[in-house]
Amino acid sequence: MLSERYLELWKLNKTYPSPTGPAVIVTDFTLNLKEGEFVSLIGHSGCGKSTVLSMVAGLLDKSAGNMVLAGKEIINAGPDRGVVFQSPCLLPWMTAFENVMLGVEQVFPHVTAAERRDIVSYYLALVGLGNAMRKYPGELSGGMRQRVGIARAFALAPKMLLLDEPFGMLDQLTRIDLQDILLDLCNRDRKTAVMVTHDVDEAIFLSDRVVMMTSGPAATIGDVIDIPFKRPRVRADVMELAEYYRLRERLIDFLESQDHRRARKVTVSKPVHQAPNVLVPASA
Ligand SMILES: Nc1ncnc2c1ncn2[C@@H]1O[C@H](COP(=O)(O)OP(=O)(O)OP(=O)(O)O)[C@@H](O)[C@H]1O
Ligand SMILES: [Mg+2]
Repeated sequence: MLSERYLELWKLNKTYPSPTGPAVIVTDFTLNLKEGEFVSLIGHSGCGKSTVLSMVAGLLDKSAGNMVLAGKEIINAGPDRGVVFQSPCLLPWMTAFENVMLGVEQVFPHVTAAERRDIVSYYLALVGLGNAMRKYPGELSGGMRQRVGIARAFALAPKMLLLDEPFGMLDQLTRIDLQDILLDLCNRDRKTAVMVTHDVDEAIFLSDRVVMMTSGPAATIGDVIDIPFKRPRVRADVMELAEYYRLRERLIDFLESQDHRRARKVTVSKPVHQAPNVLVPASA
């Protein structure tokens, strides 16, 4: 039975002291995730997305509020939350395999060495690095390094994933490739995840819900939209749906309404498969 309230964030607040008084960055951030749910967090640059994610990761102290994961209060960082940043921290003197193994040895000390090797190889193969496991980070492209980071996060079998613009540094084709891999991994492992992104298409394609944050200071949740597309999702099919374009419009409208300085840093990537007719979809 999957938990309805797997991750509970209640009235999260982050305030920094400043010479002119307390600077409230994020306030009143309340959100519950079901087990296995994939939620994206979208909002303008500097609104506080990474702040929220870092608090949930236990890497940044909250100023107020509560965070509970699987019935246990989140106090600090731990292996029950796998974190993926824009670029992964890989040890340059270790191969891709060894980098993933490093964490696996710590999290699974009780299983045999052969089983640990199987876990590492399984996830590296799933992200498409079956033939590059023995390469060093210096011999890998940015996209390949990010694949190692994703394999590592899944291999540690965390309760949930926290992804901060995981594909932000990658070119469009690599990004699409890795989105599909992430989707596939999440389907296999039913992983609960929160992902920060600037890309509305990425948010819609990957998520069950998209949480839109207002622009700071004192940012909070402005709106939440459900993404009703059934899983497993196929990119080309999703992009045939008129509903996809309606959701996209709604997201863009929200972001524009929050764009106080008219300095948007939101990526509206060109859909790879343009719908033949946005108003009259093939499936309608
Ligand atoms: N140590 C700090 N002291 C004071 N303010 C800070 C500190 N760290 C971050 N901030 C402020 O908190 C706000 C939110 O930062 P955060 O990195 O969470 O934004 P973001 O939404 O992730 O932005 P981006 O999309 O550019 O990554 C910013 O205005 C930033 O200046
Ligand atoms: Mg950020």
